Amino acid sequence: MYIDTHCHLSKNDYENIETVIENAKENNVSYLIISGCDKENIKESIEIANKHDNIYLALGYHPSEVKTTTDLDLLELKEIIKNNNKVVAVGEIGLDYHWDKDNKEEQKTLFKKQLDLAKELNLPVVIHSRDAFQDTFDILKESKNFGVIHCFSGNLDNAKMYLSIGFYLGIGGVLTFKNTNLKETVKEIPLDRILLETDSPYLAPTPHRGEQNEPKYIPLIAEELATCKGVEISEIEEVTTENAHKIFTLRSANKID
Ligand code: NI
Repeated sequence: MYIDTHCHLSKNDYENIETVIENAKENNVSYLIISGCDKENIKESIEIANKHDNIYLALGYHPSEVKTTTDLDLLELKEIIKNNNKVVAVGEIGLDYHWDKDNKEEQKTLFKKQLDLAKELNLPVVIHSRDAFQDTFDILKESKNFGVIHCFSGNLDNAKMYLSIGFYLGIGGVLTFKNTNLKETVKEIPLDRILLETDSPYLAPTPHRGEQNEPKYIPLIAEELATCKGVEISEIEEVTTENAHKIFTLRSANKID
């Protein structure tokens, strides 16, 4: 049984979300943690999670939302999270200097406020960091939150630094791409610090690269990771699922074993 620890579900992306959820189950991806990271998708994600026992939530404002996110929005987010026991993390939050270089300070401020929120609520954080390694690392080192670096694709030095401050690394479809250094890097990352994720609808793994991604492709990422690590895929399945349980408290009427 696998858990897709990070994906997005929205009717803007999928014709039929119920089919996507069914496809995941049929492919042994039994639980999904969906991330709502803008105002509209936070609402939509909550509605989806309310309907499905096997779907959990990570909620937070993505750095791309920095211009429109107010302190009142963050207060509301706090109330939403306090009143919904399907929320297992704050995220994805972080820094993105790829698209936005002109508002680094504002991004850092929003990021830090949400790190504080996660600490207050005693929840892990799901971190988005693009072209912003050093600032992300410095802030996390100082803030002492715990959680996962989502869609990790940095070098081995970056990986070691994140591991040194207790973070897990989320590995997704990029691992299956030809010519990625990530294949070498994961060999050096202890398996007990790796989580599997698709980041659907983005970053579909090989041989579906360029197509719309779905949580059902998690086993393709697991297979590649097994090859890189030289272990059986069953070990990848078992350990990464255990890891997800260590970080996220998956509370539900139906307990997961
Ligand atoms: Ni994402």
